[in-house]
Amino acid sequence: MDETQRFIDQNKDRFLNELIELLKIPSVSADPAYNQDVLNTAEKVAEYLKAAGADNVEVCETKGYPVVYGEKLINPNLPTILVYGHYDVQPPDPIDLWESGPFEPVIKKTEIHPEGAIFARGSADDKGQVYMHVKAFEAMNHAGELPCNVKFMIEGEEEIGSASLGDFVRENKEKLKNDIILISDTEIISNDQPSISVGLRGLSYVEVEVKGADLDMHSGVYGGAVPNPLNVLSRMIAKLHDDDGRITIPGFYDDVQNLSPEDKADMDKIPFDLEAYKKSIGIADIQGEKGYSTIERTSVRPTLDVNGMWGGYIGKGAKTVIPSHAYAKISMRLVPDQDPDKIMKLFVDYFPTLAPTSVEVKVIPHHGGHAYVLPTSDKGFQAAKKAMTKTFGKEALAARGGGSIPIVALFEKELGSKSVLMGFGLNSDVIHSPNENFGLFNFYKGIETIPYFYKYYVEG
Ligand code: BES
Ligand code: MN
Ligand code: MN
Repeated sequence: MDETQRFIDQNKDRFLNELIELLKIPSVSADPAYNQDVLNTAEKVAEYLKAAGADNVEVCETKGYPVVYGEKLINPNLPTILVYGHYDVQPPDPIDLWESGPFEPVIKKTEIHPEGAIFARGSADDKGQVYMHVKAFEAMNHAGELPCNVKFMIEGEEEIGSASLGDFVRENKEKLKNDIILISDTEIISNDQPSISVGLRGLSYVEVEVKGADLDMHSGVYGGAVPNPLNVLSRMIAKLHDDDGRITIPGFYDDVQNLSPEDKADMDKIPFDLEAYKKSIGIADIQGEKGYSTIERTSVRPTLDVNGMWGGYIGKGAKTVIPSHAYAKISMRLVPDQDPDKIMKLFVDYFPTLAPTSVEVKVIPHHGGHAYVLPTSDKGFQAAKKAMTKTFGKEALAARGGGSIPIVALFEKELGSKSVLMGFGLNSDVIHSPNENFGLFNFYKGIETIPYFYKYYVEG
């Protein structure tokens, strides 16, 4: 991979400038106002793939936003790597908290990134990481060092649950056929401690609505005598956890898999500094399920969290009113072998039983997905470990991640392929939050490492 690495070294600035152009397009999949921008981003990704040397590049229609496909098939006897990523991003809100525009990328030096980090929505999740793959491929291709076949599948609906992707995968099984899926959409422990994500959590997401009176009422005239949906909803939500931080939904933990001794040994190798953790996000203390460490709570244990809650008057000043409606959005992160549909049903059956007879309760199920685990004995994991260990100069660890990429479990079911989660982000990239950023060190380290994954996977 010497020629490949030389090419990367010589083209670093160009790679960064191209990424900046991609980050300028606000591809927010959740908000219909950005519809055209999401479509434009798909075209731009296709253009970049072509320029990098991919063949048969297509912007494939789906029921929702398109999937960008491209390939380079050099020899049917060699393995095929499928690179998956997403070009859509989360909404930039709350916009006031951004130090620079979310779609006006700037490079700034920070304590964690003395060499600079690129600040923009999607810089780490996931455009910056997708772009590492496009450039690593360009470099291998240009250097004549591409050691196997490669296919790219970059989607535009990951941040809204990949609703159309299941059908796309089922309808294109032959086209997507591969030996291993390679994904950079997760993080490493730190820039001094490389790691590969060997797990993702599953998800069940619901919205709930509590209705009291038909309209908002004067809180002096009616208050105290009629149901207040916000008060009621707060009590219902509070009842979803017991004093030990365990979720009270009957049957919720029935299928939760315990850690194997090997997985526990891998977890015990992960360094964790509680004081630094608290300081990094500005909390006075941690909290969570009794009997588990922070690393366990954020990776191998299931959780339930309110993501948003509203109702009544939230404007300026004080308005005295009993709201007629209260709402909340609730996510449940799942672990192997919890089934998202089953968990959803448990929630739908249980939540209304927490309400008094004075209100009406509705539960609206949203998207979900299964958890995923990659065994460390897998050839793909071994190749990733070897590649990262080489370029970081330190042994890469296996770490289960807390986030979700629902399509990964579906890939295994429909295509029979394992996914290697070789991401290069950091916790401090604050993905989904204001001032999301991606270290230049991480961007370039990714481009440098990916070709070695190809090499070791083919050799291994
Ligand atoms: N890249 C993240 C997932 C992630 C982040 C995994 C960090 C592991 C570590 C992905 O884009 C994401 O945000 N997924 C959503 C799920 C989706 C159904 C909206 C999530 O985890 O909330
Ligand atoms: Mn992502
Ligand atoms: Mn995301």
